[in-house]
This record gives sequence, C-alpha cells and structure tokens, in this order.
Amino acid sequence: MTQRDERSLELGQSTGAILDEAARLLPGGELPAAIFNDRGIFELERERIFSKAWVYLAHESEVPDPGDYVLRYIVDDPFIIVRGEDGQLRALHNQCRHRGMQVCRSEAGNASNFRCPYHGWTYRNNGRLTGVPVEKQAYGSTLDKSQLGLVQIPQLDTYNGMIFGCLDADQVSLDEWLGDVRWYLDILTMRSPAGLEIVGAPQRWVVDVDWKIAGENFVGDSYHTLMTHRSMVELGQAPRDPKYAMYGEQVHIPERGHGAMLIGAPPGTDLPPFWGYPQDAIERAKRSMPSQEQFDVAHETRIMLSTVFPNLSIHNPIRRPDHRYEGSIPMMTWRVWNPIGPGRIEIFSWFAVERDMPEEWKNLSRLSYLRSFGISGTFEQDDAEIWTHIARNAGTFSGRTHRVNYQMGMELETDPNWPGPGVAQPANFTDANLRNFYRRWLELMS
Ligand code: FES
Ligand code: FE
Repeated sequence: MTQRDERSLELGQSTGAILDEAARLLPGGELPAAIFNDRGIFELERERIFSKAWVYLAHESEVPDPGDYVLRYIVDDPFIIVRGEDGQLRALHNQCRHRGMQVCRSEAGNASNFRCPYHGWTYRNNGRLTGVPVEKQAYGSTLDKSQLGLVQIPQLDTYNGMIFGCLDADQVSLDEWLGDVRWYLDILTMRSPAGLEIVGAPQRWVVDVDWKIAGENFVGDSYHTLMTHRSMVELGQAPRDPKYAMYGEQVHIPERGHGAMLIGAPPGTDLPPFWGYPQDAIERAKRSMPSQEQFDVAHETRIMLSTVFPNLSIHNPIRRPDHRYEGSIPMMTWRVWNPIGPGRIEIFSWFAVERDMPEEWKNLSRLSYLRSFGISGTFEQDDAEIWTHIARNAGTFSGRTHRVNYQMGMELETDPNWPGPGVAQPANFTDANLRNFYRRWLELMS
C-alpha cells in the first residue's frame, strides 16, 4: 500500500478502491461521489491526467507581438507563455535555474528579458541564460550558461489560435489528442478569416469544486437549466420554455472524452439563425468555415457548449446584454478549470469575439458575457453555488460513499443523420457525453 493510499484510507476508502468502484459502476451509469473530493484522487489526477494531457494555456491574440507574455498554470506548474523576438511561441517553466525562484512575477506584459529577483540571473525571452552578475569573479569559467536556460514545456502546439501545452514528451500530437472535436472547435473559432481575439485579461477566481463537476456540466448537463437557472427563465434572460436546453443535439467523441451540445431554437420561438450575427458576418462565416456541413450546423444553432478533455470548456449562447433573451448578441466564453487541490479549482474565464466585428457589437457582446458569466455573471453564480455543495458533500464521511447518477438517455438512439463526426443523440437531456467524459477519465486514471 502506498503512502497516498494510506492517507485516503484514513478518510474511509483507498484511492484504488474508489477507482475500482468507479470502474464497476460506470457501465451502469453511476459513480462514487468520493471522486469529487479526495486527496488521493487529486494526486493521481495530477500524475496521470494533468502531467499527460494537452492542456489549454492561452490564445495567440493574448501574445501577438515579440516579447508579449502571460503566465499560465497546469495544476501548480507555472509557465511563461511568451512570443520570442523570432516570433516563435514558447512556454518556459517559470523557475530560475539557479535556486528555483520564479523569474517572472507579473501575470502579463512585454519583456525582452526576464531577470530573476533573487541573484539577478537574466534570461532572454527565448529562455536562453545570458546574464549572470559578476560571473567571472563568482564562477570563473566554470558556468556553462548554454545548459542553464529556462526549461521549456515538453510539447507546445496551437489549433486555430488556441495554444495548448503538454508535460509529456511522448504524448500523441495535439491534432490526434483533439481528434474529431476539431470539427466542433472550427464552428466556434472559424467564423471569420480574421479569427478570434481574446478581450482583456482572464477573470480568475477560486471555487471549492472539483474540476470534473465543472467539465461535466459544460460537456452535457443541459438538464440543470430547468432548475438551477429557472430564475433566469422567470426574469426573461432565458427562453420562456424552461425546457429550452433539451432541444438540439448532443455529440461526444469516443475514446477522447470531448463533447459538445448544439441547441437550436426552442419550438415556437423566433430566434434569428447563426446566433443572431448580422448578415455580412454570416456571409464571412460561410466563406471561412471549412465545410458546408459545419456552416449549416452553425446556422441552426443558438446555444453551443463544449468541453475539450480534460479541463477546457467553451460556452456560446445567444443572449442580449440588456438581459432579454429575444435578441441578437451572442457571447463566447472560454474557461479552464485548473485543479489546485482536492475539491478546489481556480477558474480562468476569457471573453472571445471575432476580430473583425464592429467595436460597438464587441462591447455589447462583452456586456452580455459579463452579466451572465464570469465573476459577475448570474448564470455563473447559480452554477457555483450548486457545485460547491456537491464537492462539500463528496468530502464528508458518509457522503463520499454515495453514488451519483448518470443514467439519463441510456436507451436513447443515436442520430444516423447527424452530419458531423462523433456519436450524436438527437436530444440534450441525456448523460451520454458525461459517461463518455468519465470513461476517458477512468481510462487515464487506471
Ligand atoms: Fe534566480 Fe538565484 S534564484 S538568480
Ligand atoms: Fe449552468
């Protein structure tokens, strides 16, 4: 028995036993609640998921010019995502090669060099160590600076401007990791030849919830809108039919864990197509999207959500900034649920918009985001209030032995006519995407 197992055993159940129970239960649509708040599970996730997976770090528009950088994290590993003078993107581990101090202490900026505040070793923005104070007197000729650059992340790659990093040099390529979810990411990111831009810095806050609870919510939990966001319906901020999120299509990518929900106009509503974009933007989208099928799917969509395994989620609904649903300003938010402890995450939440939309439209879209999601968002607060109590229960002596239920839609047929890749079901009140998410989680954990 490992030390980790012993620690979990003190809480009532070993990590191995929790995983065995999860493997036994998942085919029948259940999971042990303990997976959502357990020290051993968290440590194993760090080792087997977050040190292996391609994890979303930043968008290229956050670092457009040479020297631009932002700090980003994979669990607690800090990286400087920086564009070098050569235009190349790098993710440098933010740890001085001298005694391990954090060399960059500002979360974003522009710098040609990073000087460590402890003894002053200085690195170029490509990671090369170039300056050591009083090098000759202190070290003579013994220091091989060429071997002491900042350590780069083992793998870094981009997809449609999205920057992902991976701590495992042997992991498959980013393209292979994403697989067929790229078809759905294209719908979100290729509406204009100008591409997307991230506006402002990400909002960041800590929530006492497990990263999987947030990820599963965005990958396929339409069902909660009936209750959790009921007040939004009553206030006119969501469609009048409280079952609005039931319609549309739910799609998952087997073996990859990713999934998406594409929700159309609820019956009887008169919502504009293509999220209500103006006609000229729709024309640009038609030219920009890789296929007619993707454009056609986008044309019928009013709300789209996706989780890219493990912890990137995207939400793109049509919503008005004045809080009325019947309108024509969509918004798009990307978020990373970065685990920072058992039952605890730091959320990074970005607002994204097509670069070539008029400024006024961008501002309205951003207002729509700020009022519904992000720290000030009503929907976000609804969700967090629920999620924290799930995580709290999952960590209690009795609650951790309870089972949580994912049995919705187990007998629902798949949709043979869906034009996109993946397994599609012609409804959104189903847990198919969640079961797929946890199959991938379990595969990596076991
Ligand atoms: Fe960075 Fe000493 S720890 S220069
Ligand atoms: Fe929600």
